[in-house]
Amino acid sequence: MTVQKPTTPLKTRRDFLTAAAATAGLATAASFTPTRFAIGNTAKVKIGVLLPYSGTYALLGESITSGLKLYIDQNGGKLGGREVEYVQVDSEMSVPKAAANTSRLVTKENVDFVVGPVHSGIAQVMAKNLGKKKTPIMIVPNAGSTLVTGPLCAPNIFRTSFTNWQPAYPGGKVMAADGRKTCVTIAWKYAAGIQMMDAGKQAFEEEGGKVVKQIYVPFPNVEFQAYFTEIADLKPDCVFAFFGGGGDIKFVKEYAAFGLKKNIPLYGPGFLTEGIVKAQGAAADGIRTTLHYADGMDNPVDAKFRADFKAATGKPSNVFAVQGFDTGALLKIGLDAVGGDAGATANVIAAMEKAKIDSPRGKISFSKAHNVIQDIYLREAQGGENKFQKVVASQLEDPAKGCKM
Ligand code: BEZ
Repeated sequence: MTVQKPTTPLKTRRDFLTAAAATAGLATAASFTPTRFAIGNTAKVKIGVLLPYSGTYALLGESITSGLKLYIDQNGGKLGGREVEYVQVDSEMSVPKAAANTSRLVTKENVDFVVGPVHSGIAQVMAKNLGKKKTPIMIVPNAGSTLVTGPLCAPNIFRTSFTNWQPAYPGGKVMAADGRKTCVTIAWKYAAGIQMMDAGKQAFEEEGGKVVKQIYVPFPNVEFQAYFTEIADLKPDCVFAFFGGGGDIKFVKEYAAFGLKKNIPLYGPGFLTEGIVKAQGAAADGIRTTLHYADGMDNPVDAKFRADFKAATGKPSNVFAVQGFDTGALLKIGLDAVGGDAGATANVIAAMEKAKIDSPRGKISFSKAHNVIQDIYLREAQGGENKFQKVVASQLEDPAKGCKM
């Protein structure tokens, strides 16, 4: 096959699109698929990033962005041979602004891919707006809403992070295995909190435990004292909790200061202590959580990632950085398969579906619903680390209820 080159180098994305259109015309006449030749290696791949850079989830947004950029920088700053341009928008964790923010990236900025968000409510809006469209491909690097790879699943939506069910369900089993008989759940009242608490409750009760109360706190409120009084009165064997980011620092410290920690142990999906366990200090010691990442996993890919991340950002790694890093890896797999032709969406999707990534968290692949399949670890917080205990679920796949694809 002869690969045609444009006569002048393509400098802008518009040049690239014009050349690609001209190429498509030629291709029809010549009956071959011209996915590789209009690239010119000078038009940039545009990645729209919709993440929180302010508020309680700012650490998560910053960590994901740093992980994503680290992966791409380590690969010469290119995907499929093309340089990368980022358009970053602060989601402000605002569900009402989610549709406008998404549309700004797609129609005004004309991005090739959308990476985001952190917040499950925003993910649901984005999936409704972008799902089943030919372009762009959306990659979720955090938000765990089970709807996104459930009823809202679509060929052009992938998730490199987790569903809210994946780390929470094994957490319920752990509480039962630890001999706890009764439990109170407490979380922010939105999709992530509700789905995680329901998954933990289901697993705990399948093992004979009883959730005596489910407490929900309006998002993103961090006034916990009245709820602590209620928990003290209920006297459960344990508490299963999700807040996330800055909210978890305050929750865990105040839980201990209120005097609850010594009699009613805290459990939760690993977000309860992830990335903030040092800031929580001694108040976090002993908290057992389940997540797809842990400190001390004895994994050489992770050891290298941690060192590289520290060198690049000056900060310690966390699960959110890993999710960003793996998003970079998935983008590279997709774009390498088509020589950088982001418009060849069906081929990009086919390559991503087959992706097997040796991630810092362990081996990952993708389900039919395009959600990540991964190991879930039990960790215990000690001295500012979430120390690896054991694998509690091997290559766990979300049930993807309601996904028709
Ligand atoms: C979510 O909204 O899906 C989410 C936010 C923070 C941590 C984990 C999940």
